[in-house]
Amino acid sequence: MAESIKAPRGVRDILPEDSWKWGHVLAVTQKMAELYAYREIHLPVFEHTELFARGIGEATDVVEKEMYTFTDKGGRSITLRPELTASMVRSYLEHSMSGGRQPVKLWGVGPMFRYERPQKGRYRQFWQLDFESLGSENALVDVDTIMTAVELFRTLGMSNLEVVLNSVGCPVCRPAYRKTLTEFIGDHRGDLCPTCENRFNRNPLRILDCKDEKCKRITDEAPAIFESLCESCSRHFEAVTSGLDDLGVAYHIDKRLVRGLDYYTKTAFEVQSGDLGAQNAVCGGGRYDNLAEAIGGPHVPGVGFAAGLDRIVLTMEQQNCSFGREPMPQAYVICADETARPEALELLYALRRAGVSADMDYMGKSLKAQFKAAGSGSSVACVFGGNEVSKGIVTLKNLMTSEQIEAPRDQAVAQVMAVIDR
Ligand code: HAM
Repeated sequence: MAESIKAPRGVRDILPEDSWKWGHVLAVTQKMAELYAYREIHLPVFEHTELFARGIGEATDVVEKEMYTFTDKGGRSITLRPELTASMVRSYLEHSMSGGRQPVKLWGVGPMFRYERPQKGRYRQFWQLDFESLGSENALVDVDTIMTAVELFRTLGMSNLEVVLNSVGCPVCRPAYRKTLTEFIGDHRGDLCPTCENRFNRNPLRILDCKDEKCKRITDEAPAIFESLCESCSRHFEAVTSGLDDLGVAYHIDKRLVRGLDYYTKTAFEVQSGDLGAQNAVCGGGRYDNLAEAIGGPHVPGVGFAAGLDRIVLTMEQQNCSFGREPMPQAYVICADETARPEALELLYALRRAGVSADMDYMGKSLKAQFKAAGSGSSVACVFGGNEVSKGIVTLKNLMTSEQIEAPRDQAVAQVMAVIDR
């Protein structure tokens, strides 16, 4: 026998016993997006590789090591999207969205792809909920973005979360900070982990968020970027923190938070969970005022965040949050006698047309097995036997109270609905 085929490493099936939980999170997200005035956008799963190379930055782990890139049959270099922000900005530019009211607030959801080392909460295909506001430099939009994330998680019932905030400066002030930081690390360069040794020249700020104990020790006393921020970045950061203070949102300023994508300017933030272990970021985001220019457009400031749906569900499960009720057929039609099959089928479809979810057995199961199936989640069993057919009725059993009534056939749907509504 040929060897059976399994899913590739780092990807997984979200089975029905879990996917209804995902459905709940998506429904809440959709509602939140509406409340916060974001409009949904559907973007392609693959793009020209150049979009990510230029948008996210050649020196990032994502572009350097993690992209699923291939040449299509027309000889173009194509990449499965590792994130949505670059695509959002591309779409904004391509569809001239700067013409309307600004900022343009967009949200989208779907699978992203990164060739990372799989572990708990980290997959090679994972889902993101992505929120972006394009076209405004105002720090209040940063505050609105952070609030959207915080309120989404609160509405989902999540706890033990922390908003972590930093500024990563801008092209005006970052070069000076890079210099200050590399000078500070200076003699210790040889003690850095191999990844950070490599980052030293290319992207030294990322050394700050290395998890390696030795790198951490070296950068413990490193000067914070705040001391190097230009006036515009400094004012912006103050406006963001005072906006959050006004709204009573708690946050923690962490000079080590630099994020792994190169497009960030000014605000960088994450919401971290105390229940996720090493992969603790439930969401990450920030401002990216130069991204549009990096991909060939005019200056379009933007700010947004993406939350990992896989990690949200994991956290909610760990915290015993409610996902609502798993959808089950409300009514189960039981056919105790083959002569009753046509009438049983008629009721089955009448129930569904009336908006009552309903199912029945198609496998010729025994009466006992049919009652067992009905008992695993349905509220009402609608029983048809020879007796019911000859009397023109259906027996309705309330599976929560075990009460039983005989309903005339023309009243069966209404009676089932009455039991469900009780
Ligand atoms: P990111 O920090 O790379 O940012 O990803 C955002 C979130 O996606 C993470 O906080 C995490 O919850 C989830 N995530 C990332 N990688 C994985 C993975 N391999 N497995 C499971 N979940 C994962 C971005 O992608 C930016 N585009 C966010 C943004 C939007 N910045 C501005 N606007």
